[in-house]
Amino acid sequence: MDGKERNFDAAAATWDENPGRVKMAQDVARAIRETTKPGPETEVLDFGCGTGLLSLALLPGVRSVTAVDSSRGMLDVLDKKIAAQGLAMRTALVDLEKGDKLPGPVDLVTSSMTFHHLRDPVPVLVEMARILRPGGRIAIADLDSDEGKFHDSSEGVFHNGFDRCTMQKYFEAAGFTAVQNRTAAVMHKTGADGKTRTFTIFLMTAQKKA
Ligand SMILES: C[S@@+](CC[C@H](N)C(=O)[O-])C[C@H]1O[C@@H](n2cnc3c(N)ncnc32)[C@H](O)[C@@H]1O
Repeated sequence: MDGKERNFDAAAATWDENPGRVKMAQDVARAIRETTKPGPETEVLDFGCGTGLLSLALLPGVRSVTAVDSSRGMLDVLDKKIAAQGLAMRTALVDLEKGDKLPGPVDLVTSSMTFHHLRDPVPVLVEMARILRPGGRIAIADLDSDEGKFHDSSEGVFHNGFDRCTMQKYFEAAGFTAVQNRTAAVMHKTGADGKTRTFTIFLMTAQKKA
C-alpha cells in the first residue's frame, strides 16, 4: 500500500480497453439487479463511477443514474458517451475524502472497485446513508482480501481488498441494517510477474432504516 493517490485521469482514455474490467462491471451490475431489484422509479447514485461501466449497465430499467467521481478525466470519457447516446444521466465531480457532499436523495447507492482507494471507508458510508431515502439500499462491490496481488502498482491502494466481516462492521458503524454479502464476480488476472491469479469480488448490500 502507498500513501500517494493514483492519477486516474491518466488512465481514463484506455480504461475501457481492458475486457476483464468490462466483464467485471457487467457481472457486478447483474448481482446488484438480482439482489436489490431496482425498478422504473429507482433513482441511483454510482460512486467512483470511472468511465461509467457500472453506471451505464444499471441505467436501463431505472429512473435515473447520477454518476460521481473525483477524476475529471474519467468523467470526461463518460460525458462523451452520455452525449453520443443521448442518455438521461448526469455526472458530478465529487471527492468525498476532500469534504465534498453527494447529491441526493436517491433510492440506491452503488459502487464498484472504489472502496480500496479510500483511506477511511466509514465516513464515506455515513455520507451515503445521509443521501439515501428511508428504506433505501446500498450495494458496494470490491475485492476480497488479495494480499496486495491484484494491483501491479500500490499507488493509491489503501486496502489490499477487504475481509467481508470487517466490511460488514463498517456498514453497521454507518448505521445500515440487513447487511448481506455474496460473490459478484471472479476475475483471472496475470500480474507483472507473469503469474495468473484468481480474484473474487464481493457485493455487500444493506438497507437504511425505514
Ligand atoms: C478502480 S476505479 C473503478 C471505476 C468504475 N467503478 C469501474 O468499475 O470501472 C476507481 C474510481 O474511483 C474514483 N475515486 C477514487 N477515490 C475517490 C474519492 N475519494 N471520491 C470519489 N471518487 C473516487 C477514481 O477516480 C476511479 O475512477
